[in-house]
Amino acid sequence: MPQFTLSTLDKAKAEGRRFAMLTAYDASFAQVAAVSGIETLLIGDSLGMVVQGRGSTLPVTMDDMIYHTACVARGVETCEQRPLLVADLPFAAANTPVDAAVNAARLMQAGANVVKIEGGGWLAETVRHLTDRGIPVCAHLGLTPQTADMLGGFRLQGRDEAAARRIREDAAVLAEAGARLLLLECVPDSLGAAVTQAARVPVVGIGAGPATDAQVLVMHDMLGVTSGRKARFVKDYLAGRGSVAEAFRAFADEVRSGAYPAPEHCYGN
Ligand code: KIV
Repeated sequence: MPQFTLSTLDKAKAEGRRFAMLTAYDASFAQVAAVSGIETLLIGDSLGMVVQGRGSTLPVTMDDMIYHTACVARGVETCEQRPLLVADLPFAAANTPVDAAVNAARLMQAGANVVKIEGGGWLAETVRHLTDRGIPVCAHLGLTPQTADMLGGFRLQGRDEAAARRIREDAAVLAEAGARLLLLECVPDSLGAAVTQAARVPVVGIGAGPATDAQVLVMHDMLGVTSGRKARFVKDYLAGRGSVAEAFRAFADEVRSGAYPAPEHCYGN
């Protein structure tokens, strides 16, 4: 059993304590993150870009996700403070509820505690199907990189009232269907706050303002090794620090204290 569980995170939300999530793709960095006190690790399909050097997450396969999930799980296995492991279902792995259940089971067998699925309210049936079969789900809303082309690229979501209402409604429908975590990417602060306040389950934000229950960053971004244009919410935690462990600890501390995200990492209202 992980030391950090879904119950731990529910309790943190109820008590108003923020927690940190970081992406991890291999055993060594996962172990450093665990020892640094990061509560949750995401084996994200962002590995397609930051590990495999691809231009998007779309080519990432189930076999890739299983391989990296198993690496991360082995890395944290013996850690005293074992983080909760969330693993992505990659593009097209959840086309039907049955596909989603078969693929999610493979991720759980590789060591995941929760599976993450990108999409909106239309995923409710899938979320219910997985939940009924004992597979905890994190529903990823807002900017969903697997469908970025449909959304007009990597851009802020929920900008006008109609779009914001749709995201609020989708969040409610997915939580009602059984999602145990929500992940909200790239939306105005006011929408991040509204979804977090309304949700019974913890909401993890990335570019969703300071009010979410947790914050996640892609590890390569927060270590300053990602090349090219950086998203507004990215902060380099290795700059001015002597080690990766120090960078991880600083991120976790700033998430817990509320120092991250600062206004310059947010999109405003
Ligand atoms: O794949 C990933 O790393 C993600 C984060 C951007 C939240 O989904």
